[in-house]
Amino acid sequence: MQDAIDTQAAADIRVTPLSPACGAAISGVDLTKPLSASAFRAIKAAWDKHLVLVFRGQQVSQDDQLRFASYFGDLGSRKKAPEALRARAEGVQQDHEKVLLVTNIKVDGQPIGAFGDGEFWFHIDSGYSARPYKYTFLYALELPSRGGNTMFSNMYKAYEAVPAELKEKLKGKKALHIHEYNRAKQASSSGDISGIPHYSHPVFVTHPDTGRKTLFVDRLMTTRIEGLDEQESAAILDRLYAIGERREFIFEHEWKLGDFLMWDNRCTIHARTDFPKEERRLLRRCTVEGEPLHE
Ligand code: OGA
Ligand code: MN
Repeated sequence: MQDAIDTQAAADIRVTPLSPACGAAISGVDLTKPLSASAFRAIKAAWDKHLVLVFRGQQVSQDDQLRFASYFGDLGSRKKAPEALRARAEGVQQDHEKVLLVTNIKVDGQPIGAFGDGEFWFHIDSGYSARPYKYTFLYALELPSRGGNTMFSNMYKAYEAVPAELKEKLKGKKALHIHEYNRAKQASSSGDISGIPHYSHPVFVTHPDTGRKTLFVDRLMTTRIEGLDEQESAAILDRLYAIGERREFIFEHEWKLGDFLMWDNRCTIHARTDFPKEERRLLRRCTVEGEPLHE
């Protein structure tokens, strides 16, 4: 009997691609309900193929969100910013260690969550750490009347678009990722970074589940290719950022209330468009813990 129910659950799932770049809408899943093994397999297969999944019209409590995310691995803990950067990073209502409120809302002049207003450049969530989150899950609770779209770029396609001579030159190379808790200002590797979160990862990473190669570089946090002189590193990084941000590789999500999004941080970078400061935007985020990455 269990098998029959299971098969039915997977059969109800519909996957609709949302752009030629990446992204698919999933219907036929209620995120408030436990997921059957076959439904899980169907969603995971769609995720590996489309990189970003959108579930519309969901009513997801915090517990529902954490339960659903935990099917895909151990939940990630919110990272604590170093004391010197804490004012940029931490809101006053971040009270669950597995949950991050992404919002511009302030209470008594204090931000309650993270990432405030405005544009957010392309980045990888916790790409500056030894184990970048595998996955991020974001659920919309309050939205501005316009803007605040989240854009995703397909970094498998970006890898494929890197010219052969550059692939050869960068083989075996690592790049430094630094997090200064800015959103639209490139981190700088020139000063003392000992007190600032940073980590070096291969420029090209093999996705552990799909076995496909991806370009693991972003404009916000990737600042230096190791083993090249500074000028050459900067020139090559500019080329790589531009490839990663090619319009044809990007799926842009316009949020509606009830949208639940999940993305794979190993093979996508993401960014946010500007939105009116005077309007409220609130999303609930959780993650799945990552592992060291290899070329
Ligand atoms: C995030 C993020 C973008 C957004 O939560 O990691 O980058 O649209 N959010 O707020
Ligand atoms: Mn992010």
